[in-house]
Amino acid sequence: MAIDDSKLQAFMGNFVRDLGAVMHAATIVVGDQLGLYKVLAEGPPMSAETLAQRTDTDSRYVREWLAAQAASGYVEYDATSDRFSLSPEQAFALAEEGSPAFVPGAFQIASAQFKAIPKMVRAFRTGLGLGWHEHDTALFHGTERFFRPGYAANLVSSWLPALDGIDARLQRGARVADVGCGHGASTLIMAKAYPASRFSGFDYHAPSIDVARASAEREGLADRVTFDVAPAKSFPGRDYDLVAVFDCLHDMGDPVGAAAHVRQSLRDDGCWMIVEPFAHDRLQDNLNPVGRVFYSASTMICTPASRAQEVGACLGAQAGEARVREVVERGGFRQFRRAAETPFNLVYEARP
Ligand SMILES: C[S@@+](CC[C@H](N)C(=O)[O-])C[C@H]1O[C@@H](n2cnc3c(N)ncnc32)[C@H](O)[C@@H]1O
Repeated sequence: MAIDDSKLQAFMGNFVRDLGAVMHAATIVVGDQLGLYKVLAEGPPMSAETLAQRTDTDSRYVREWLAAQAASGYVEYDATSDRFSLSPEQAFALAEEGSPAFVPGAFQIASAQFKAIPKMVRAFRTGLGLGWHEHDTALFHGTERFFRPGYAANLVSSWLPALDGIDARLQRGARVADVGCGHGASTLIMAKAYPASRFSGFDYHAPSIDVARASAEREGLADRVTFDVAPAKSFPGRDYDLVAVFDCLHDMGDPVGAAAHVRQSLRDDGCWMIVEPFAHDRLQDNLNPVGRVFYSASTMICTPASRAQEVGACLGAQAGEARVREVVERGGFRQFRRAAETPFNLVYEARP
């Protein structure tokens, strides 16, 4: 087979960049856990020894870690003074928990994917699923930390107002269910913004519900925000004004069954908000950097999570609007539209 040398060089160039990113990922998780980025962000520019002293860590390891960060563009290095610092942008993305650009949670998710390799090798052979609950806890915490900034930036300011009449109803006082709520980041953001409304978060994963409850207590919202373990096909309550599902419909084994249950839990004039990863309908249109992230997560997390549940629909994280519409309509909804979008999310509005 003839090898085109320039195509091979281009491929190897991509490979070196990718390998650097993958190898660097583990150092991001370590630095995040030890608070290295946060202390570095406090400044002023510091030596490896100072950072080690201030974080109670080993200075030789910290020096090597700083070199890895500088080589990746995650830290600035001044060779004259041999000091390291974070630019305002690096600090915003790496040290400011909850900033709209905060990224370390994403690498926790990546670390959980690596831990799932032996299970997924078996799953590919057997065709069996791998439930959300069967992953390392890094997945649950990473998901909360990575998704929350996007919700904080968009949910109250643009997604909810894009739904017909919902913002006004929430301001007056409405009943809301957040299904597949995980650690409840979206639930708590909505609850803070709409003090007259009551919120019920549901997830089948009990440890996530424990974390969500603790957050509601800590944030003083437990009087009108509850969290309970319940699957999407049987969560309790009726006459909700709004049911929301954030980045989880495609993880469900029976999304049509979930849609049918959401339909009968809503008031006749209620609204179902469906937030899903951004995707086009056709594979060839998703072959881009964002699609790459989602297809990879979908292979290791989302598709096997769905396969692990009854029906095992396996929508995948790049289901796209046409397939989501089909699920929603088969669940008994008559109206469906795309209400908003960001580079990472599509927001749909469904009505009975
Ligand atoms: C990617 S996480 C999203 C969590 C949360 N909505 C967020 O955006 O941070 C998917 C969530 O769906 C939940 N889930 C999956 N299948 C479910 C089902 N059938 N019923 C209820 N929750 C489910 C998982 O436990 C997990 O918390």
